[in-house]
Amino acid sequence: MNARVDGVAQRVVRWQASAGRNHLPWQNTRDPYRVWLSEIMLQQTQVSTVLGYYARFLEKFPNVQALAAAPQDEVMGLWSGLGYYSRARNLHACAQAVANLHGGAFPRTAEVLATLPGIGRSTAGAIASFCFAERTPILDANVRRVLTRVLGFDADLAVVKNERLLWDHAEALLPVDDLANAMPRYTQGLMDLGASLCSPRAPDCLPCPLLDICVAGQAGDAERYPVRTRKLKRRAESWWLLVMRDSEGRVWLERRPDSGIWAGLFCLPVFADEAHLHDHLAHLPVPVAPGQTEGLGGFMHVLTHRDLHLHPVVLTVPVARDAAGEGGWFSASEWEEMGLPAPIRKLLGNLFGGLL
Ligand code: ADE
Repeated sequence: MNARVDGVAQRVVRWQASAGRNHLPWQNTRDPYRVWLSEIMLQQTQVSTVLGYYARFLEKFPNVQALAAAPQDEVMGLWSGLGYYSRARNLHACAQAVANLHGGAFPRTAEVLATLPGIGRSTAGAIASFCFAERTPILDANVRRVLTRVLGFDADLAVVKNERLLWDHAEALLPVDDLANAMPRYTQGLMDLGASLCSPRAPDCLPCPLLDICVAGQAGDAERYPVRTRKLKRRAESWWLLVMRDSEGRVWLERRPDSGIWAGLFCLPVFADEAHLHDHLAHLPVPVAPGQTEGLGGFMHVLTHRDLHLHPVVLTVPVARDAAGEGGWFSASEWEEMGLPAPIRKLLGNLFGGLL
């Protein structure tokens, strides 16, 4: 490795103490439950969004046993709006694994933490370094950017071998002294650098504590890093949503399949096109003709790999009656508490004046 990277750890630790974030609600604790919860929420989600959810979760589930014992629907309801719902399902499964297989205490090493649902190598490293001061690296998207720039690491990270090599570098850069203090600070410091100065575009190199030993900073080409050739391909998809409401104002909702978009969440019935939606209506116990429905304007919801074009079709039926498929009729006060995908929740709120 480049000799100039000597001293990375010390500089990051010192910088973190003076310029990093030190008052976030999941800091200044070594409780692995709190740290784990924050790390899962912070995957793919900004700090400002996480703050409210984190407080509500802790209030409802103050410890891992409480979370493990909660019904899945309650966990999904509280997660509703945070997105990436597989995180919530894994969160619940992980709490149950800790409660049932680990005697209610989180494992104390990154290696064992990484065997739990939803905890990858980087999240395991974060929990172990924050809570147990283990000398173990993290490598989330922000830290990957910081380290590839410092090292001038321009190998293609789409290649698994190169990703492993970068993990090895991350390990070699870890602090060696005073680990009880240095490890949590170093881990947080790398995250803070990645979230502030070392931004993807137009990084603010001048105040960076690593500038004089940073290969990319010295060359003035930080934006070149990290190098990854394989780009995510986006796809567009159209979904027709049946918004069926009965005379008492209840809405028909069904649980989504266990895999795919919004897996396991309650949602309006989804159809691939308008013809399938009307075919479904024609085969209800009391058939519905196309003229009885009202199509609303479509809108788009952007997911990580997909642009979802959503087309709601509204139908009012005189009295609550059974509909085909697995689902049920839910009043506004019920669906407001359920784990609905954010755009569905918003649509229902706009249409029926829900409180949210
Ligand atoms: N993102 C991931 N982990 C974080 C942390 N501990 N603090 C701030 N942002 C984060």
